[in-house]
Amino acid sequence: MPTTQVGREAGRIALRAYESGDAARVLDVQRRPEVIRWLGDPPHVPMADLDEALEWIERRRRREESDPLDVTRAIVVRATGIVAGTVSVARAYRRNGDFLDEYEVGWHLHPDSTGHGYATEAARLLLDEVFARGLPEVWCGMFLGNEPSRRVAERLGLPFVGVRQDPWYEGESRLYLLTRDEWLAGR
Ligand SMILES: CC(C)(COP(=O)(O)OP(=O)(O)OC[C@H]1O[C@@H](n2cnc3c(N)ncnc32)[C@H](O)[C@@H]1OP(=O)(O)O)[C@@H](O)C(=O)NCCC(=O)NCCS
Repeated sequence: MPTTQVGREAGRIALRAYESGDAARVLDVQRRPEVIRWLGDPPHVPMADLDEALEWIERRRRREESDPLDVTRAIVVRATGIVAGTVSVARAYRRNGDFLDEYEVGWHLHPDSTGHGYATEAARLLLDEVFARGLPEVWCGMFLGNEPSRRVAERLGLPFVGVRQDPWYEGESRLYLLTRDEWLAGR
């Protein structure tokens, strides 16, 4: 799988699909309550072992195979080769059962890799890629109180919709909606 190298800050990171050799790193992120509490609805069950990490990697590979707009990428720090974390554009499913063609961009880092701008830079690269693949618009949402994630969305310049009942997850979220034209106009 070729890495993505373009972008305004090209150089510090590369994006690539996860591979089985990343399982230990995936486990070391997904076992952490301080990370997974922000990623979806409760219960937030920490990942238990390498088999689960391998399944996580395989599920994401299959999702992109069946839908090229559903993309999960490892964020690789070029200088060290370390996987800092994950950036994704994923199909979002409404809690009320409506089936809409909606996607959300998201990010999470290993705590040893925060504070360098990697999540923001990775999201720029991935948004370039998915909009080039034809995605017309993308949502972004974060639970209230997730200030680091809010700052990522704002550094990216995502247009703010408001604080709303989250259509995809429990509770209220800060929601953003970005169209391809808006993204291309800002690049
Ligand atoms: C959300 C999350 C990815 C944000 O991580 P992050 O490291 O703050 O975000 P970035 O990688 O974009 O780094 C930006 C930070 O690095 C700093 N930074 C340092 N050097 C930098 C550089 N060269 N370029 C850009 N930013 C740099 C920025 O000032 C910024 O810090 P600030 O927000 O305190 O001002 C991380 O907190 C996380 O994984 N949280 C748990 C999971 C989660 O909440 N995911 C989101 C669900 S909605």
